[in-house]
Amino acid sequence: MCGIIGFTGSSPAVPILLDGLEHLEYRGYDSAGVAVISPEKGLQIQKRKGRLSALREKLDGLPPLEGTTGVGHTRWATHGEPNDVNSHPHVSQNGRVAIVHNGIIENYAEIKEFLLHRGVRFRSDTDSEVVAQLLDYYFTDGSDPLDAVYRVLEKLEGAYALGILCADRPDMLIAARKDAPLLLGYGQGENFIASDATAIIARTRTVAYMEDGEVAVLTPRGIDVYDEYRRPVEKQRHTIDWDVSAAEKGGYAHFMFKEIMEQPEALRHTVSPRLRDGEVAFDELSLTEEKLRSFRRIFIVACGSSYHVGMLGKYSLERFLRLPVEVCLASEFRYSSPLVDERSLVIVISQSGETLDSMAALREAKALGGYILSIVNVVGSSIARESDDVLYTWAGPEIAVATTKAYSTQLVLLTMFGLWMARALGRAGGPEYAAVTAELGLLPEKLETVLAGTDVYQYLASLYFNRDCVFFIGRNLDYALGLEGSLKLKEISYIHSESYAAGELKHGTISLIEPGTLVVALATYGPLIDKAVSNIVEVKARGAEVVALTTESQRERMEKLADHVMVIPDTHPALQPNLGVVPLQLFAYYIALQRGCDIDKPKNLAKSVTVE
Ligand code: M6R
Repeated sequence: MCGIIGFTGSSPAVPILLDGLEHLEYRGYDSAGVAVISPEKGLQIQKRKGRLSALREKLDGLPPLEGTTGVGHTRWATHGEPNDVNSHPHVSQNGRVAIVHNGIIENYAEIKEFLLHRGVRFRSDTDSEVVAQLLDYYFTDGSDPLDAVYRVLEKLEGAYALGILCADRPDMLIAARKDAPLLLGYGQGENFIASDATAIIARTRTVAYMEDGEVAVLTPRGIDVYDEYRRPVEKQRHTIDWDVSAAEKGGYAHFMFKEIMEQPEALRHTVSPRLRDGEVAFDELSLTEEKLRSFRRIFIVACGSSYHVGMLGKYSLERFLRLPVEVCLASEFRYSSPLVDERSLVIVISQSGETLDSMAALREAKALGGYILSIVNVVGSSIARESDDVLYTWAGPEIAVATTKAYSTQLVLLTMFGLWMARALGRAGGPEYAAVTAELGLLPEKLETVLAGTDVYQYLASLYFNRDCVFFIGRNLDYALGLEGSLKLKEISYIHSESYAAGELKHGTISLIEPGTLVVALATYGPLIDKAVSNIVEVKARGAEVVALTTESQRERMEKLADHVMVIPDTHPALQPNLGVVPLQLFAYYIALQRGCDIDKPKNLAKSVTVE
């Protein structure tokens, strides 16, 4: 989704803004722009449809924009098509204000109507432009711009992260936030706003997260923050402890490939500190045994791949805990009168910690009395901050839109939480607990063996990259894993694919299987291997070409049945998807590569989905 960076200091702003925007590219966007102010030239704005490189090209052909205070923006279109005019920054009719905005102003039509009646002329089709025009409308020369900002915020409905420049204040930048991420960066004689830390980490590691309703005034000398009633707020500062190189490609062709390869290390970070003497230990949790005993039901709420983690988690959690677990799409949850109460544990899973649907579901669940435990990657993100308890995945920054290492670490963490809770309640004991925890420690090494042999996925991609449609089938954990395999393939390669519970095939879908149809049959779940075999036989009988994903112990059997096999090491069935997902990621990656797709930034997609 949209990315914002703002800077005020003594160096030329444009190179800093462009560098910041480059680090926000991964969020997904279709146009980019910058605005800077100088005492001599006032507000200067340049924006362009397309990639950041198009904006750079445009800027290279112009006299340099002067100014040491400015804002930059990458836009992911919601209201109005992606074009130069609809790109941000938006400037007011009288040229006194420029703004960048992330989020959606829900009552923009009403505000626009109000301003049109007062003679204001609009240039764009966006909801965001109303903010610039309304600010200008409330501005009175020489007065404190904050007066106008607060008047405008009072009128806005919806979600916003805003960066605001005023033509007559060349060393000032104003920021405001409600339901869209925005952080403040504290530098030496320079200060920043950004949608996330990757944009500014090259210049400062000291950040503070803006809360809903807050407004910040930045100058090179400092940052003043106020709450919604304009009372001063003392912000807690945090230090970003990951390295800049973690957010760079480091010699890999794509972030996605780098992040796939980082999975063993990421799993080590997630698992090792929480595994002591064969026991899962979560020192970071404040959940008491009494509270754990009070839960009658667990809800898992998430979107996309994080939701798929929840689908897998349901099987393990119900098995370990003997408690009902409901997995809900966050976008549906809040509108479905969920049966959450004080005896509900609500697990919210999110890589970014900023997904608006998940955030809204969290708030709904909290209002109903549920206890919120979140599993989040981005430290200090909104979902993490609003939860009662957080388990961080410690996967490091994930830049590719298609999630890989975040998915893997979420999955292992959810399984570990199930084990931990079961132990605390006296429901997990004996051999199974010991078997799973022993295998947990071995996962990174086993993953390394999967990653050591990428040739097979490259070869399979060369055979199948030009297919129009792919089916994924599996049972139980393999079914939930297939959902992720199918999403990975479609989001980066644009091949239509569907994932089915293999037993459902004969209830309709099998009519689509014809000679040559590609079926990826997941057969890693030991207890149901015989059933998986029957389903492979069924689709083969109708002419399907089958690529089977299976374990070392089933290799021989599968080689006789399927056209090709992808093989992973055996582990405990509850952890098998942790290994199984990697071949599916690589299969999707190499297919997208063969098709010449923009792998890290697939069309129409955004990394952090901050609109509903
Ligand atoms: O940041 P989140 O985990 O909340 O994001 C949820 C989904 O948008 C995300 O998993 C999406 O489906 C991925 N692009 C899939 O690779």
